[in-house]
Amino acid sequence: MSVQSSSVRRNTVPKIAGRKGGDPIVSLTSYHAHTAAIVDEFADFILVGDSLGMVMHGMDSTVGVPLDLMIMHGRAVVRGTQKALIVVDMPFGTYEESPSIAFRNAAKIMKETGCGAIKLEGGARMAETIKFLVERGIPVMAHTGLTPQSSHVLGGFKTQGREEDTWADHIADAHAVTDAGAFAVVLEGMVEPLAAKITKEISIPTIGIGASADCDGQILVLEDMLGMNSWAPKFVRKYCDLGAVIKGAVEQYAADVKDRSFPGEDEVYR
Ligand code: KIV
Repeated sequence: MSVQSSSVRRNTVPKIAGRKGGDPIVSLTSYHAHTAAIVDEFADFILVGDSLGMVMHGMDSTVGVPLDLMIMHGRAVVRGTQKALIVVDMPFGTYEESPSIAFRNAAKIMKETGCGAIKLEGGARMAETIKFLVERGIPVMAHTGLTPQSSHVLGGFKTQGREEDTWADHIADAHAVTDAGAFAVVLEGMVEPLAAKITKEISIPTIGIGASADCDGQILVLEDMLGMNSWAPKFVRKYCDLGAVIKGAVEQYAADVKDRSFPGEDEVYR
């Protein structure tokens, strides 16, 4: 059987699953080969999130993201990396209808990108599909709490679990995806004590985003933490202001062009 040609071994689903309660799992989103190559050195897994619809393509929600777009970006991220497990989001409308449709689309993502796992949104309602996929060789990362693909039903991007009488449903969702065979679950936009309680209760790693520092790992949208987006959720810690850096560089470039101080041909290809 042929194996990876590189001497670097890619992280695996069982290794991520085995980090429950251990060393915190580091993860970020990435959508391109170049940023993924940078993130690869530090991340245990990289998510090609359907947030790319909003972040990269200016959509106002993730609902309109097509499967082919996820595959194109997924392929770029796999090409740009060697070490991190690559997880690709299943976009809205490609998995909810039936387990067999979900399998067809998940298999297409895995075959055409070379990724190691897929992620889908939903708790108890997706348990049957998660089980169906896992039994047929597709590793599934689940995603509960604030599920952006359902933002129209949720009434926007709202923190989940503010009323304690809703906790039982969220806890049941986390148990359902665990029992169905998901290897990890993203807890997004969830009040801190609820995310901490779920993390304590379930046997698979929880990956928090706007949830709790007690989760087994954390994920952020790369462009949010780099300060590239004009808007980012309040919980996002910005590690730099790359938007301002890019603006300054473009401004200087424009000034150089106008001043005719741009390097000539003889200086360029040395
Ligand atoms: O699409 C995405 O980037 C995500 C993360 C926010 C978890 O699902």
